[in-house]
Amino acid sequence: MSADLSGIRACVFDAYGTLFDVHSAAARCRGDLGDNADRLSALWRQKQLEYSWLRSLMGAHTDFWQITGDALDYAMAAVALDSPALREKLMSLYLTLDAYPEVPKVLAQLKAAGLRTAILSNGSPMMLDAAVTSAGIAAQLDHVLSIEGVGIFKVAPQTYQMAVDRFALPPAQISFMSSNAWDAAGAAHFGFQVIWINRFGQPRERLPGTPKAELSSLVPLPGMVGAQPA
Ligand code: LAC
Repeated sequence: MSADLSGIRACVFDAYGTLFDVHSAAARCRGDLGDNADRLSALWRQKQLEYSWLRSLMGAHTDFWQITGDALDYAMAAVALDSPALREKLMSLYLTLDAYPEVPKVLAQLKAAGLRTAILSNGSPMMLDAAVTSAGIAAQLDHVLSIEGVGIFKVAPQTYQMAVDRFALPPAQISFMSSNAWDAAGAAHFGFQVIWINRFGQPRERLPGTPKAELSSLVPLPGMVGAQPA
C-alpha cells in the first residue's frame, strides 16, 4: 500500500518505535541480560503501552516516565530478574535510544522542502527532550509535543488535536507517521493523512481508522509529500 498524499503542509511523527528504536536499550545490555534480552524488551514495551491505555481508561494518569519504569519492573519480575543496578541502567538508556538510521536525512529533506515538522508522543517532555538531543535532530523539528499537555495518552482524540492547534492547520493538511499500528489507526480515525511505518511486518489492526499508505521505513516519505530527495 503506497499512495501519494495530497495537500500536506506539516509532517507529525510518533516518537517511540517510529523515530527511536525502543529495543536498543535492552540490546545494549545483552551482556547483562543474556537470553532474556529480547523477551524482556518485548514485554517492557507491551506493558508500557498497556499501562498507558489502562491508566487513560481508569482516569489515573501519570507520566510516561513513571509508566516506563512500572512496565520495566513488571518485565524484570516476569523474567525473574532482580537487579536495581540493571533497572537503573536500562532506564537511563531509554533516554538515549538509537534513532533509526534514515531519520536525520528524512527530517532534513522535509524541512528543505518547506514542510513543518513535529513529534507528537506519549513521552514526557523530559524523555522527549533527552531523546531528541541525543539523536541530534532538534534543529529539524519545529515542535516536540508531549501528551502531558492534555494529560491523557493516545489514542484519545485530544492528543492528536494538539498538533492541529499548534500548527493551526486542519487535520487533512497534516500527515502523521507511526510504526505503531494502533496509533496509526487512532490518528487516521482522528482525520490525519496517515502513513503506517510497518517496521516489523505486523498485520494491520482491526480498528476504526485506515492509514492512507504503508511503508517499511521513512525513506520514501519525502517523495510522497512533495519534497524532493536531498
Ligand atoms: C509514542 C509511543 C506511542 O511515542 O510510541 O507516543
